[in-house]
Amino acid sequence: MTASTPRTFHVKSFGCQMNVYDGERMAELLAAEGMTAADAREDADLVVLNTCHIREKATEKVYSDIGRIIKEGRREDGSVPLIAVAGCVAQAEGEEIMARAPAVRVVVGPQAYHRLPAMVAEAAAGGRATETDMPAEAKFAALPKRRKVGASAFLTVQEGCDKFCTYCVVPYTRGAELSRPYADLVAEARALVEGGAREITLLGQNVNAWAGEDERGRHVGLAGLAEALGQIEDLTRIRYTTSHPMDMDDALIEAHGSNPKLMPFLHLPVQSGSDRVLKAMNRSHSADGYLRILERVRAVRPDIALSGDFIVGFPGETEAEFAETLQIIDAARYAQAFSFKYSARPGTPAATMDGQIAPEVMDERLQRLHAALQRDSLAFNKASVGRRCAVLVERKGRHAGQWLGKSPWLQSVHFTGDAALGDLVEVDLIEAGPNSLSGRLVA
Ligand code: SAH
Ligand code: SF4
Ligand code: F3S
Repeated sequence: MTASTPRTFHVKSFGCQMNVYDGERMAELLAAEGMTAADAREDADLVVLNTCHIREKATEKVYSDIGRIIKEGRREDGSVPLIAVAGCVAQAEGEEIMARAPAVRVVVGPQAYHRLPAMVAEAAAGGRATETDMPAEAKFAALPKRRKVGASAFLTVQEGCDKFCTYCVVPYTRGAELSRPYADLVAEARALVEGGAREITLLGQNVNAWAGEDERGRHVGLAGLAEALGQIEDLTRIRYTTSHPMDMDDALIEAHGSNPKLMPFLHLPVQSGSDRVLKAMNRSHSADGYLRILERVRAVRPDIALSGDFIVGFPGETEAEFAETLQIIDAARYAQAFSFKYSARPGTPAATMDGQIAPEVMDERLQRLHAALQRDSLAFNKASVGRRCAVLVERKGRHAGQWLGKSPWLQSVHFTGDAALGDLVEVDLIEAGPNSLSGRLVA
């Protein structure tokens, strides 16, 4: 060990849930090396920026953060923390980062972060290290066993994407679709539950494309995996995200009616309500085809909460095409949804398409979209008032005796009373806003 070997670390994640999962695993790796986590970034000897490349804004944050770490983290002796850039920007722009930011000593892509400790050691010895290879499966096998986790935990089951939507960087930053083996996932889920998890959210860029072989050698999809995880006694809730409409198979739809641990929530992005735009996005489904899937899920699980993702201002999007997006929102009646302004990403086909939309047009469309989605989430939450449901307690609230948790429909519920983290308590839902509900603990 050299004198400059870091003793404390701080991992900051910027991206999707899988990025958060990766951040947790990197923290576990560093802890296994004997380093301790520092809550504040300024106090850490090693700062890992776990980056996201999905939209321009997310990418810009990396460089501004590097500048801030150098400024705020400078020690009395003039030294600065060791900076490692991980995640999807590292994968896409590793060389540029190394050239532009001399303070960055490690660049590690999302498929190579099991090598982080070795790379940090190299950097601590005075070098710089870059690793953006995509070796299939090497990463997970090299990670330490999960130990202590919160009541709700993430489990990456599938990575990468072969769909190549024309606006999206994920197929380039995360590589080809890859399913982790069934047995590994059952083992990791067991470790998570032993570590305190009561809910597991299965993650994948296309999580419902997951496929594997069960212990008897039968081919199973995500529904089969959820069935197997349901056998873990102390696991009470199973969720999954994000799904692609084309991979929403019969078994998974049926599982929403038959697997009691599978929560009544489905995040199924559609992006646009216009078939012309969907085609230009290479989404390989129509607006109607998408709505038919929602109908089938509602048929087996009438109370299901639906969620989606939307992009406004895709190149060439007309006012009439945008109106079709508002129509599909009316038809779908989402419980919640995410909406984004189109962001031209370098290297994607859409970035060079004709008809790029002016920012002010995008702003205006986003506002209208947002208003429609807010209206529907408020309606969904209001319709829940009067229901009695189980709430998984995840956090302490701001006020004394207050707790925050999630309903089966993934609504945030706050209540006061006698509870503890990780409890599954019964609550009457008594008041609703667009983003949360208040509940009364059932004695
Ligand atoms: N694999 C998932 C999630 C991909 S990223 C899926 O296909 O659903 C999450 C969301 O970011 C996407 O659903 C999309 O709505 C949005 N997104 C992706 N690329 C974007 C871009 N270039 N500009 C704006 N939003 C984008
Ligand atoms: Fe991106 Fe499309 Fe793949 Fe989702 S399905 S990750 S939006 S390319
Ligand atoms: Fe961002 Fe990479 Fe996730 S680009 S959204 S962190 S897969």
